[in-house]
Amino acid sequence: MEIFDEIVNYLNYLNENYGGLLYSELFDTAQPNSSTVDTKNEKLIFNNMNDIFAIEEEWGKSRTLKELEQKINTCLKCPLGKTRTKFVFGVGNPNAELMFVGEAPGADEDIQGIPFVGRAGQLLTKTLASLNIRRSEVYICNILKCRPPNNRKPFAAEMDKCKPYLLKQIELVAPKLIVALGATAVEGLFNTTARMAALRGKVLKFQDRPVVITYHPAALLRNPGLENYFRSDLQFALEILNRLTNKGE
Ligand code: URA
Repeated sequence: MEIFDEIVNYLNYLNENYGGLLYSELFDTAQPNSSTVDTKNEKLIFNNMNDIFAIEEEWGKSRTLKELEQKINTCLKCPLGKTRTKFVFGVGNPNAELMFVGEAPGADEDIQGIPFVGRAGQLLTKTLASLNIRRSEVYICNILKCRPPNNRKPFAAEMDKCKPYLLKQIELVAPKLIVALGATAVEGLFNTTARMAALRGKVLKFQDRPVVITYHPAALLRNPGLENYFRSDLQFALEILNRLTNKGE
């Protein structure tokens, strides 16, 4: 009986959030996905067919972030399009050298349409400020542009649908370095569920762009002991950026 109640609850949840559409990862993950992170050699073996995105789509031809945002902010490619309040495209310097990629908008972001403005975002902003970096200098966005109900972890299918937009943002901003915030951002970018401990302190490559990985700031809210690690990861990212731009020499 318990399992029956659970199934009914789950179906009700789907009905509420997805308008009755039966939406399951099981159907969507059976797709080519052979990317792995070779942490020993700090190399990414990247070969996911989903990431070769359909540039023929109109938005794929966008020349500026503004144009891209206008073309995609009514997106309904996944059911989150129906439940979002605002599309959370991204914010910051369109020519930023440093780009932050988080997981997905939360409640505050969904209302304001701006990434990382809630408690976790304020912690990110504060840590950046302590390193003399203003939010307006960098570019901040997420793997998903719409809020998953109840802040649940994004489904792989949602990430697959949304990721081409991120790829286009990366192309347009052309950052020198990307910082992936948290395990879901790493999963979204690299299609790997490798542990955070194995990835921090390394420079990985995503489509030939260096990527540094750190905790999601929400993890620091749950575990303040991680704050120092987060700050030192960001310092590490800045050192790498300085090296890449020769500012440190
Ligand atoms: N968490 C994220 O991953 N992104 C946001 O924009 C806010 C919270």
